[in-house]
Amino acid sequence: MTTRINLNGEIHQDAHISVFDHGFLFGDSVYEVISTHHGHLCFVNEHLRRLRSSAQAISLELPLTDEEMLQEIHKTVAAAGNPDSYIRIIVTRGVGEMDIDPETCTKPNVLIFVKSILHYPEENYKNGINIALVSIKRNPKEALNPGIKTGNYLNNVLAKVEARKAGAADALMLNPTGQLTECTTSNFFFVRDQRLMTPSLNCGILSGITREVVLRLARENGVLVEEGEWPADVLQNAEEAFITGTVKMVMPVTSLDGRPIGDGKLGPITRMMMRLYQDVLKSL
Ligand code: PDD
Repeated sequence: MTTRINLNGEIHQDAHISVFDHGFLFGDSVYEVISTHHGHLCFVNEHLRRLRSSAQAISLELPLTDEEMLQEIHKTVAAAGNPDSYIRIIVTRGVGEMDIDPETCTKPNVLIFVKSILHYPEENYKNGINIALVSIKRNPKEALNPGIKTGNYLNNVLAKVEARKAGAADALMLNPTGQLTECTTSNFFFVRDQRLMTPSLNCGILSGITREVVLRLARENGVLVEEGEWPADVLQNAEEAFITGTVKMVMPVTSLDGRPIGDGKLGPITRMMMRLYQDVLKSL
């Protein structure tokens, strides 16, 4: 259970950055979470691509090339020496004036946290979790586009707090026009009439890397897939549901607001996607 932090190329057991960093002051940063499986970095090129696109979307120039970033990741993972790692890359705007204008920040800070990965309880995968449809809306694309993975997660934090108060493991959010979006750190899927359905990127969600893998696997294995824009009512006749994310992988959802989805047990398409995703990880 070793933690190592790479701060601008130097590896530390604990690291500190200035309180004048705009990442701290304004949530002005971008990040990625990557995992390893049996020591192999999972979908690292996709994560580095998304990091670059997030940085570009907030007009932040990454100080490292993808190759340099990869080298730093490997260096930090090796220094931590865990069997499997949780890797969080954060690039902040850097130190500047106590003023929102990023122009005053000259040098971004690049942090790479590596710690032992903490998997969710086996029980979650065996019986599924309960999630809550919360009143907090996902940020509209036109305000803070959820497609950009920034360090500003307060929208998701508020949704999570509401879900926790309702006794749920996570929150499912609608966008301001009432369409389904995603959970606080994962994408949402459901099954209706034997079709695998997931909110389209147009609804204002993060284009999850696990989501993309699951969509590809479903198509390759003859599952009918639909990406669309739906109100919450569509879930009344849902037969199955699950959420996806780098750390959660494919996690079954068996109840919504305490009411069972379908028969309240893991359904066949969920089981299939869980198995296919594990097979992909094993093949890395
Ligand atoms: N979260 N949606 C949101 C809002 C997310 O924060 C994440 C990832 C996802 C799933 O994306 P991916 O499959 O690429 O991990 C969807 C990471 C894991 C986190 O913040 O911890």
